[in-house]
Amino acid sequence: MGKKESKKYECIECGYTGTTWSGRCPKCGAWGTIEEVLALPSEDSQMKSFILPLPLHEIKSPARLSSQDEELDRVLGGGWVPGSSVLLAGEPGIGKSTILLQTCLRMAQKGKNVVYLSGEESPSQVALRAKRLGIASQNLKIGSGYNIDDLLAGSSGSDLVVVDSVQSFTSGDSPGLPGTPSQVRAVAQKAISSAKQNGCPVVMIGHINKEGLIAGPKLLEHMVDTVLLFSGDRLSPYRVLRAVKNRFGATDEMGVYEMLDKGLFAVNDPTRLYWRNKDEKVPGVTVTPVVEGSRAFLVEIQALVATSPFPYPKRTAIGVDPSRLQLLLAVLERRFGVSTISQDVYVNVVGGVAVRGPQADLALCAALASAHHSRPVDPSYCLIGEVGLAGEVRPLPRITSRIKEAKRLGYKRFIISKGQELEKIEGISLYKVENIKEALEEVGL
Ligand code: TYD
Ligand code: MG
Repeated sequence: MGKKESKKYECIECGYTGTTWSGRCPKCGAWGTIEEVLALPSEDSQMKSFILPLPLHEIKSPARLSSQDEELDRVLGGGWVPGSSVLLAGEPGIGKSTILLQTCLRMAQKGKNVVYLSGEESPSQVALRAKRLGIASQNLKIGSGYNIDDLLAGSSGSDLVVVDSVQSFTSGDSPGLPGTPSQVRAVAQKAISSAKQNGCPVVMIGHINKEGLIAGPKLLEHMVDTVLLFSGDRLSPYRVLRAVKNRFGATDEMGVYEMLDKGLFAVNDPTRLYWRNKDEKVPGVTVTPVVEGSRAFLVEIQALVATSPFPYPKRTAIGVDPSRLQLLLAVLERRFGVSTISQDVYVNVVGGVAVRGPQADLALCAALASAHHSRPVDPSYCLIGEVGLAGEVRPLPRITSRIKEAKRLGYKRFIISKGQELEKIEGISLYKVENIKEALEEVGL
């Protein structure tokens, strides 16, 4: 009897939990980020505690609901899943409210019951924004306030509920201002259980801080079914939407948008963004097709090598993994005599896209070697391959889509791995190479 209630503390930056308070988080080292976790009333107690197991064939899988946005649908894995919870994270000002409001308007236009709850703007401000987007719709309901509980209760029977943002609402009697870890968690929990109970998908907007962590308890990521990340350079109009977690779909799809005067518009042909056709020959520039989810598009890779004024030369990689760059620089030096030991190296993938995995290795090596020699790569070539530690060029998956995309934009000469198997594609020439040395010779380096 009288079991001592032990307190729990959590770091709002990294999600570390412990039983003692401390001024500094023992895990991430941040100061003043440890807060007490307040016990929440169990939501499960309101729900049926169990469902009898059923044979698989008797369980109906719910139909997905289109967001009326082709890019968003693809990233979600085919649309909203009824009863699911989605977190849309991104830096302030990136366009989170815009993308969801325009989706809501389009869904409402199609006769869906959509509710947009804003804790950041008044209904008239949201209406003003909606007007700017120019999507006529009578049916969208807009709610605003500080406490999410009544707003959610009043939203039952909807097809979609948007919570803008999870950091601007409070829930229940838990103390604390909006945005504190316990409040963020309480609001999210409320929204998630309301989604489950009503079978209606709920999307929560979550602001992230500069370091890219989702502000508030990191725990939020584990609570929801899907986490979408909306990112981009605020100075450029382009935005990329990706799923970083998805219980109901793949995480390799990406949606590309352009922010214009009247909202966000899908960029259906990402190649247009990351590649530009030009005739002038510049050292350090190569082109390669990359595959993201179901799409292939061309990216331009740029490298610059300059004598370093520092004892420790800089390596700057934008759009490619820095450790990948280090590895390829080492391979180039040891296997091909391209030494950048006392030089600063800069690599940039044009258009702000991040190339994942080793798919741009060969093009990156050629760009680096070209920059090092100050000799351009013959621009009629497209280089496609992974590079291994021995300097060998390895095959890549989805080679046909890659080549077809480059062919669509006029490339006819492809440097690929000797080990690459592929179906016949008319109107192109293939140059099969074993290692980067052969590849670099072929492109004139
Ligand atoms: P917003 O959706 O409010 O960002 P978030 O919710 O992520 O904080 O969008 C912010 C920026 O987008 C703002 O600086 C204005 C710009 N914007 C446009 O350029 N065109 C538009 O049609 C809209 C609605 C916003
Ligand atoms: Mg907003």
